Amino acid sequence: MNRMVELETFNAEEESAEVSLRPDAWSEYIGQEQIKKNLGVFIQASKQRAEALDHVLFFGPPGLGKTTLALIIANEMNANIKVTAAPMIEKSGDLAAILTNLEEGDILFIDEIHRLSPAVEEILYSSMEDFRIDIIIGSGPAAQTVKIDIPRFTLIGATTRAGMLSNPLRDRFGMSFRMQFYSSAELAQIIAQASNKLNKEIINEACVEIAKRSRGTPRIALRLLRRVRDFADVADEPEIQHARTKYALNELGINSNGFDEMDLRLLRLLVSANGRAMGLSTIAAALSEDEGTVEDVLEPYLIANGYLERTAKGRRATRATYEILNMPFPETEGGIF
Ligand SMILES: Nc1ncnc2c1ncn2[C@@H]1O[C@H](COP(=O)(O)OP(=O)(O)OP(=O)(O)O)[C@@H](O)[C@H]1O
Ligand SMILES: [Mg+2]
Repeated sequence: MNRMVELETFNAEEESAEVSLRPDAWSEYIGQEQIKKNLGVFIQASKQRAEALDHVLFFGPPGLGKTTLALIIANEMNANIKVTAAPMIEKSGDLAAILTNLEEGDILFIDEIHRLSPAVEEILYSSMEDFRIDIIIGSGPAAQTVKIDIPRFTLIGATTRAGMLSNPLRDRFGMSFRMQFYSSAELAQIIAQASNKLNKEIINEACVEIAKRSRGTPRIALRLLRRVRDFADVADEPEIQHARTKYALNELGINSNGFDEMDLRLLRLLVSANGRAMGLSTIAAALSEDEGTVEDVLEPYLIANGYLERTAKGRRATRATYEILNMPFPETEGGIF
């Protein structure tokens, strides 16, 4: 019996709906220029040598295009791709079943790869390095180790939590890429392209308006585009206008700085400390979020835009944060400025 575990990791709205907005070629994948350039070289090199591509790791906040890149790589390599996620691979036997079912040159995509159990990771090491796994059959004194050869495959791992990857696993990836937040110009381009696929006209100012409020993240930009389109359709507006876009985004409660409710809660909390730094655990408790979410989902965007600083003593709001929240900047309070 084929015990292949597979998981639909795709967001329902992104994939279902009328048309998929997920790019399937380089030409439609906007931004992340350095990553595209490097990957392009490595893909071409391995194709010229008719070899499987080396293992690839993508890390960075959710919605920046990790899964999409994995699918594009598979497309470029003309390779089959099996998509799964670490929580689906509970036992080492599950992984062994996946690996032994692969064919030469196949791509195995493991999402949330930081969540593999140590026993499963162990199997992955030898398969990545030697294309071989040892499995133990039976138990007790009768237990036997069987070595099984695995076809040369490419592992593509994705994680929002690079810090939680064990060193031995990280070291076994031949390439690792950190995903960057997108500029407003790039997001505007992504929005225009998606609108085109949705068969809905949109003026450039409207694209830019959505882009500015999307937290540097394509997934958010595309979700907002769909909602703005709903407003335009209901109003019988054939081409999405700037005014309609602003109205719709305000109705949706999207702040004009691009912050969402959670960002604002975090920033207000930091500002309430009046210049003092606040520890991660305190922040997490105050927001009722786990520390991982604060660190890997909330903070990166705020840090990248200069609204939050990580210091040895904890997290701190910057001058810009006080300004956008219309609060006086505490020049001396707390003794750290
Ligand atoms: N560079 C890009 N150009 C155009 N569209 C993009 C780009 N990156 C992502 N998208 C779109 O944004 C959506 C989210 O991308 P994707 O699912 O690849 O993110 P992810 O990094 O895998 O997120 P997660 O960490 O949550 O799994 C997809 O629908 C995809 O179509
Ligand atoms: Mg993904």
